[in-house]
Amino acid sequence: MMSVNIAGREQKQVSNIEQFEALFNYATIGIIVTNSEGRIINFNKFAEKQFGFSKDEVLEKTVEVLIPPSAREKHVQYRQDYNSSPEVRAMGHGRDLFGQKKDGSTFPVEVSLSNYTINGHNFVIAFVVDITVRKKQEEVVLEQKQELEIVTGEIKSMNSELEQKVSDRTKMLREALAELEKSKEELSEAFENEKELSELKSRFVTMASHEFRTPLSTILSSAYLMEKYNQANPNEKFEKHIHRIKGAVGVMKGILEDFLSLGKLEEGLVQTKMETISTSAFLEDIHALLQEMDALLRPGQKIHFNNTINTPVWVDRNLLKNVLINLISNSIKFTNENSTITVSAYLTNDNLVIAVIDNGIGISQEDQQHLFERFFRAKNASNIQGTGLGLHIVSKYLELMNGRIELRSKLNEGTTVTIHIPQNNHLKEIYEKNIDNRR
Ligand SMILES: Nc1ncnc2c1ncn2[C@@H]1O[C@H](COP(=O)(O)OP(=O)(O)OP(=O)(O)O)[C@@H](O)[C@H]1O
Ligand SMILES: [Mg+2]
Repeated sequence: MMSVNIAGREQKQVSNIEQFEALFNYATIGIIVTNSEGRIINFNKFAEKQFGFSKDEVLEKTVEVLIPPSAREKHVQYRQDYNSSPEVRAMGHGRDLFGQKKDGSTFPVEVSLSNYTINGHNFVIAFVVDITVRKKQEEVVLEQKQELEIVTGEIKSMNSELEQKVSDRTKMLREALAELEKSKEELSEAFENEKELSELKSRFVTMASHEFRTPLSTILSSAYLMEKYNQANPNEKFEKHIHRIKGAVGVMKGILEDFLSLGKLEEGLVQTKMETISTSAFLEDIHALLQEMDALLRPGQKIHFNNTINTPVWVDRNLLKNVLINLISNSIKFTNENSTITVSAYLTNDNLVIAVIDNGIGISQEDQQHLFERFFRAKNASNIQGTGLGLHIVSKYLELMNGRIELRSKLNEGTTVTIHIPQNNHLKEIYEKNIDNRR
C-alpha cells in the first residue's frame, strides 16, 4: 500500500514536469526566460522557429542577441529598469518592436513580460508573437486609406472646380440672357419707332399726292386752254413751252401714281381680282397697252411682240397692265434710240410667262441685289428720270397674283425681266366648269 502511494506520488511528480515541458515546448508563442543579468536560460521550440536560433545557440547569451543592433543599447537600459520594478505588462509602450533572426533579418514582434523569483533570484519571461502578417495587413489597409484619401482629395478638388465652372457659366449665361433681353427690348423699340416713322411717311406721301393732283390738273387744263388760244394766233416759242409744261405734268402725274400705289399697297388697300380671260381679250389688252407705250418711245425705238398663247389665261387685268407699263417704260428709258424692245408671251408648266427684253445699259451685279427695294436706283441710272419705285411695286403686284419676277442683266449689254403668273387655279376653274356643263 505504502509503495503504491510512493510510486503514485513520483508518477504524479514526473507527469507534472513532463506536462510543464510539453506546455513550454508546444506553446504556439515564443517563450524566452532570462535571469536578472538578462542572460537567456530557457528558449522554447516556437522561439527557435521564430528566431532561427537553436536553444543551445542562445543559452547564456544576453537577450540582446535577439534584437537588431540599433535597439540593443536602449534595451539594456529598459531591461535594467524592468528588473528594478518588475511587473506583468506589455513591452514597448506604443513603440514598434523588432526581433532579429540568426540570419540577420528582422521581423515585427509583440512582447509581453512577466517575472518570478526563486531562492531570491529574479527571472523574467518574455512571450513573443510574430506580427509580420498583421503588420503587412495594417500596411495594406494604411496604403488603401492613403490612396482613398488622395482620390477623395482629387474628387473634392474636381468637384469644387466643377462647381466653380458651373457657377461661372451660370453667371455668364445670366449676363448673356440679360444682354439679350436688353437688346430685344432695344430692337423692339427701334422696330416700333421704324414702323411709326414708316406709317407717318406713307400717310404723308398719300396726303401730299392727293393734294398735288388738284393743282396739277388745273395747270394741265390751263396749258390746254393756252394751246387752244394760241391756235388763233400761233407762236412757236409759246407752243414749245406749252409742250414742256404738259410733259412735266405727265412726269409728275406718273410719280404721284407710283406714290399712291405704294401707299395703297402698304396699307393693304390693293385688291386682287383674278379672272379667266379669253386669248383675244388678253391680246387686246396687250395691244392697247403697247399702243399707249408707243407715245413714250424714243426716236427709232420699236417694240416687237411675240405670242404663242392660244388658250384663256388667269390674270388680274389691271395689275398685269401696271406691271407691263412699268417694265416696258424701264426698257424704253434705259435703252438707246433706234433699239428694239421685245415682249414675249407664252405658257410653261402651269405658268403664264411674259418676258420684256432690251439691249440697253444693263445693271451691275452689285446693284441687281437691291432692285426691288423702295427708291433704289442703279448707279448708271442717276441721270435718267425715275424714283426707284417701279420694280418694288411690280414685285408687290406679282405677290398679289401669287407670281414671281426674275431679272437677268449684264452691264452695257441688256436686261431681261420675266414674270411668271401661276395658272393652276385657272385650270382647276376650267375643269370644274367642264364638269358642270356635262351634268
Ligand atoms: N430695263 C432696265 N435696264 C437697265 N436698268 C434698269 C432696267 N429696269 C430697271 N433698271 C434699274 O433698276 C432701277 C429700279 O427700277 P425702277 O423701275 O424701280 O425705278 P425707276 O425706273 O428708276 O423709277 P420709277 O420706275 O419709279 O419711275 C432703275 O433705276 C434702274 O437703275
Ligand atoms: Mg421704272
